[in-house]
Amino acid sequence: MFAKTILALAALAVAVKAVPSHSAVCSQGRRASSEACCVWFDVLDDIQENLFDGSQCGEETHESLRLTFHDAIGFSPALFRQGKFGGGGADGSIMHFADIETNFHANGGIDDIVETQRPFAIAHKVSFADFIQFAGAVGVSNCAGGPRLQFLAGRANTTQPSPDLLVPEPSDSTDAIFARFGDAGFSPAEVVALLASHSVAAQDHVDPTIPGTPFDSTPSSFDAQFFVETLLRGTLFPGNGSNVGEVLAPLGGEFRLFSDANIARDARTACEWQSFITDHGSMVRKFEAAMAKLATVGQNPRALTDCSEVIPVPKAVKLPAPTLPAGKTLEDIQAACAATPFPALRAAPGPATTVAPVPPS
Ligand code: HEM
Repeated sequence: MFAKTILALAALAVAVKAVPSHSAVCSQGRRASSEACCVWFDVLDDIQENLFDGSQCGEETHESLRLTFHDAIGFSPALFRQGKFGGGGADGSIMHFADIETNFHANGGIDDIVETQRPFAIAHKVSFADFIQFAGAVGVSNCAGGPRLQFLAGRANTTQPSPDLLVPEPSDSTDAIFARFGDAGFSPAEVVALLASHSVAAQDHVDPTIPGTPFDSTPSSFDAQFFVETLLRGTLFPGNGSNVGEVLAPLGGEFRLFSDANIARDARTACEWQSFITDHGSMVRKFEAAMAKLATVGQNPRALTDCSEVIPVPKAVKLPAPTLPAGKTLEDIQAACAATPFPALRAAPGPATTVAPVPPS
């Protein structure tokens, strides 16, 4: 009896520890697990209104998500092993040393969002590294069907810029991309998961004559349409012809990166790619897991404070099932997964789909 009571008490203690206490009371009576998280509610209010134009999944959201990656991937254990500085990962260096890093070729156009975000981070006295990851997580929660990313706070300010050539280029081979991600700690399957980000994305600088040209037909939805449309046979260039890192796209007004086209068809990743078409839940979960890793590259997550409760819960929306764009049939799909047949998709009705640009805000 005594032993049973002790066991029950121990179980209760574990259960109590597992439930976040939400002991800190922050602005507007909101509760957080730690006092250190309170500032992030104020940042949240500010950026939803003044950076994301009232919680939109528009251009600033897309750019903020891209920025999380371009800061974090600046980390190379291989360089450290050679006795060189390999970068600090998700350390805010892209904002601290913007004069250096935004000039790296792979960071083309990232200076806009770096300079748009900077005053927010300064006004709220939070580190650039934390701000970049927070803004990306809040932004993508605004996209229909979006994830709720983990957010850990407490990254210190950095003192050194990342070395150049650590951010993958769209013209890189799949081998080079997998090797670069592998060096930073990511498997090819995790690269596929991270590329769900390209479902809410557009290009401005690969072909600068057509800024805002999206990678899929639904750039405000974190849906699987990107994973379908990248497998369609390419037929046209949406802008002034082929640019470095660009390949033929399947739809008017849509842009296809050489890297996305190849990863969709590579034997190492084709089945993972195709699997997301019929399993949005898995796409979101795997993206959340890979992003939790990305946001802490080069950091010790155990030294950070979990403030995930500040990240908004994305609105529950029922996304339409992925379709073949109007005018396309299964014959246009270049299925590349040897193990599983391409799923039967409904074709959207009406005249051939063309895609509208993402408006600048
Ligand atoms: C294989 C690695 C990757 C390559 C080669 C790549 C390349 C690119 C390129 C060339 C653009 C267009 C930039 C422009 O012209 O404005 C872009 C946009 C974007 N990328 Fe990636 N990317 C990769 C991985 C990622 C990852 C891991 C993330 C985030 C987790 C990400 C998020 C985005 C987003 C959100 C945009 C849209 C930005 C906007 O609409 O303004 N990318 N990417």
